[in-house]
Amino acid sequence: MTWTPNSWRARPVQQMPKYKDELALARATEELANRPALVFAGEARRLRRQLADVAAGRAFLLQGGDCAESFREFSTEGVRDTFRVLLQMAVVLTFAASKPVVKVGRMAGQFAKPRSSDMETIDGVSLPSYRGDSVNGVAFTPESREPDPQRLLRAYDQSASTLNLLRAFASGGYADLQNVHQWTLDFVKDSPAAELYAETADRISEALSFMRACGVTAESAPALESVDFFTSHEALHLPFEEALTRRDPNTGSWYATSAHMIWIGERTRQLDGAHFEYARGISNPIGVKCGPGMTPDELLATIDALNPANEAGRLVLITRMGHNTIGEKLPALARAVTQAGRKVVWSSDPMHGNTVKTDNGYKTREFDKILTELETFMEVLYAEGAHPGGVHFEMTGRDVTECVGGANPVTEADLESRYHTHCDPRLNADQALDMSFRIAESIKRVRRNNTINAA
Ligand code: TRP
Ligand code: MN
Repeated sequence: MTWTPNSWRARPVQQMPKYKDELALARATEELANRPALVFAGEARRLRRQLADVAAGRAFLLQGGDCAESFREFSTEGVRDTFRVLLQMAVVLTFAASKPVVKVGRMAGQFAKPRSSDMETIDGVSLPSYRGDSVNGVAFTPESREPDPQRLLRAYDQSASTLNLLRAFASGGYADLQNVHQWTLDFVKDSPAAELYAETADRISEALSFMRACGVTAESAPALESVDFFTSHEALHLPFEEALTRRDPNTGSWYATSAHMIWIGERTRQLDGAHFEYARGISNPIGVKCGPGMTPDELLATIDALNPANEAGRLVLITRMGHNTIGEKLPALARAVTQAGRKVVWSSDPMHGNTVKTDNGYKTREFDKILTELETFMEVLYAEGAHPGGVHFEMTGRDVTECVGGANPVTEADLESRYHTHCDPRLNADQALDMSFRIAESIKRVRRNNTINAA
């Protein structure tokens, strides 16, 4: 039962890249172990407190960012644009739900990807599958597909730069509510979602001027001009995570310092597996992806393995079922958790169960299917007496054409024009903002129905 940062090594491990030179991997992780922590224990504890509010229904979780971050597409503008769309979505949701929104980026470390097979074959040539920029390159050549341990150091460097930017954006004035109108990106300015957003922003500006006249300013209420913004990624590459696992001198507890929150994916959530063993011993908030195959017993065992003290804020269950499966699978899971009195955050990842391939060969997701999964998630949880606590999106602030549909629709024929993702299709800025209004409506509707039913 004793846990150490490397006790996962004694367990069966899924999804590990095969490095030709084990010594080079050891040297790279040794170097990582000497690098500074990216995030700090006190910050992870702060996120846990905020997630405890989500578990109790007093706050809402918004988590979003790239499916996979990339080395080549890294830029200040890219980070800023995803951040500003997340701010806009947070504004819309805060306004609609009248609850604080906990903001978590799928950013500054989302590099390693699980794959369904170790090898990829194109025209009779087989090469190792692309496993994310922290492992190998996406180009289909033997050199690029060979796992390279030096990439872990580059992933660390890019995460550090990204975090530095995010910290500056979150507290350096950019996120000041006075700027609420300025976060709209130029290319979404004329869309239906942008118009709705402008209305909300007007009302917020008006409320702020009123409060300013009453003497409430950023000086008396610093929360008006900054946000808490947290980072998260899938803790897939365990040698990387192990190297960044540190003991907090204040409490003696171990923390993953690669991000505030990490999650375990659907493919690596074996109860006796290495990823579980790793996650069990760190004190960060942990997410677990729950696919359609998850049974109530398995879910309770998962919860008890990762959160034996039943502390609210420790565990986020991220459902990813598919729009036509969630209505059938989620009720039994929600009932089991509620009846057992387990304190969790329920969050919906409406992206991963709804991926399809178009006739012209693009992996895509339909806006309406994503929305249907979200709405069903909310309805089921309310009906089971649980809180639909949050959402988890693959999205970007860039003007990409990867998912189809939305109020300003992307069509199948549009996909080829700006299909940039290294991995799964993301909502673009316009679709993401649009989605936040639909969630807001859904929150209000479900709440209204619920009050009627209770009366
Ligand atoms: N600090 C508050 C919060 O995070 C209010 C706030 C400031 C805010 N800037 C924001 C909310 C931007 C949403 C978006 O909720
Ligand atoms: Mn993905």
